[in-house]
Amino acid sequence: MKHTKIVDIFKQSELVGTKVCAKGWVRTRRGNKYVQFVALNDGSTIHNLQIVFDLQKFSDDDLKLVTTGSSLCVVGQLVESQGRGQSVEIQAESFELYGTADPEAYPLQKKGHTLEFLREKAHLRMRTNTFGAVMRVRSTLAFAIHRFFNERGFFYLNTPLITASDCEGAGEMFQVTTLDPNNMPRTEEGEIDWAQDFFGKFTSLTVSGQLEGELGATALGSIYTFGPTFRAENSNTPRHLAEFWMIEPEMAFYDITDNMDLAEEFVKYCIGYALEHCADDIAFLEEHFDKELTQRLHFVLENDFVRLPYTEGIRILEESGRKFEFPVKWGIDLQSEHERYLVEEHFKRPVILTDYPKDIKAFYMKLNDDGRTVRAMDVLFPKIGEIIGGSEREADYDKLMGRIEELHIPMKDMWWYLDTRRFGTVPHSGFGLGFERLVLFVTGMTNIRDVIPFPRTPKNAEF
Ligand code: 4AD
Ligand code: MG
Repeated sequence: MKHTKIVDIFKQSELVGTKVCAKGWVRTRRGNKYVQFVALNDGSTIHNLQIVFDLQKFSDDDLKLVTTGSSLCVVGQLVESQGRGQSVEIQAESFELYGTADPEAYPLQKKGHTLEFLREKAHLRMRTNTFGAVMRVRSTLAFAIHRFFNERGFFYLNTPLITASDCEGAGEMFQVTTLDPNNMPRTEEGEIDWAQDFFGKFTSLTVSGQLEGELGATALGSIYTFGPTFRAENSNTPRHLAEFWMIEPEMAFYDITDNMDLAEEFVKYCIGYALEHCADDIAFLEEHFDKELTQRLHFVLENDFVRLPYTEGIRILEESGRKFEFPVKWGIDLQSEHERYLVEEHFKRPVILTDYPKDIKAFYMKLNDDGRTVRAMDVLFPKIGEIIGGSEREADYDKLMGRIEELHIPMKDMWWYLDTRRFGTVPHSGFGLGFERLVLFVTGMTNIRDVIPFPRTPKNAEF
């Protein structure tokens, strides 16, 4: 018999009174000597399906291996439930035990494990309510992202993961090589001879698909990337991963204002989509982790983001009378404490901070007329800090060259990028949304390790 997903069993009222087949993992079993109740979950929804085993039909012995974590196929009549807490249940007629889960050994035998404990059991944690909910929200958000751009005529561009250039210029790249570390080939000068490496040059995992994204935008008009990016920054914070996913739209003919408009519309669309399609999971996460979650999500949806130049932001911080751990003065890179002061205390709304000092931003950002700031835009969110980083791009060949020289970026890596400015250059803009930071915001979780199935952080690459 074909099985029905539990989410559909709950949705399709016409199934009541018919025979159905459900498959899943046992969450709990309880009952008395007349009847046993099994809560079955198949991952399709936060809600468990109740299976009723009448002990006139089944013996204790039949059921003794039906323990938490074991996997079942059950066939029976779907009926309206008499009990509280569920609308329908299956009156079991037959079942097959796919696999047992020894209660002595199964790590999720008990409920109520801490998130820290579950991080150690990342291979199994998606079987818990919490991680099931988070991963369903994550998947739904990914779909919303593709839908948003598709509806607006953007093309999905796949940019390379292995690259020879450092887009952000921060030097935080993971090297890719097939050379033997114990026997590196050397040039006559005694340097490592990368020409003998697999790609014939020094290569790394990408920190951003933007530079290739710009090649796409200056051909296709509007593109977006959505893929993994890698950063070897040794920051063990609740908001940084060494492998994270980023969405990077890049648009020809967009200036910084168009870019901000798109960024705001985009995150609001994603949040709205999740609220509409993940109501049960969000309600669960709200109840267990973050009592203000839905309220905060609606608040972001319903309010315009503040748009504020960096210089103004610095002034507000200086005049706040607040003692920050990192002192504030014009030219500093904002720390999380500064971002959160602006967003959570001063404006009490998301803030798009623009026109940062050029010295703290990447080489490709458009220089303002003042010669010392660039047309950058960071979107700052409550509880998260920076969720988006972007800019209008420097479209002028000479000015871009100037920045490349100023920063001593090796030209041999950049000729192809500069060609966009040599041949039919256009004003263009783009930004990058950190996918996990969006998932953090929408789920109300507080540690980025809990919103990606298999987190990669310093000293941690298990599974
Ligand atoms: O601000 P970033 O470094 O910008 C770029 O990479 C640009 N090339 C984007 C563009 O204009 N196309 O990173 C963009 C976003 C950040 O705002 C943050 O949300 C996220 O990526 N991010 C991280 N997320 C998790 N772990 C990390 N280590 C992250 N670093 C950045
Ligand atoms: Mg940034």
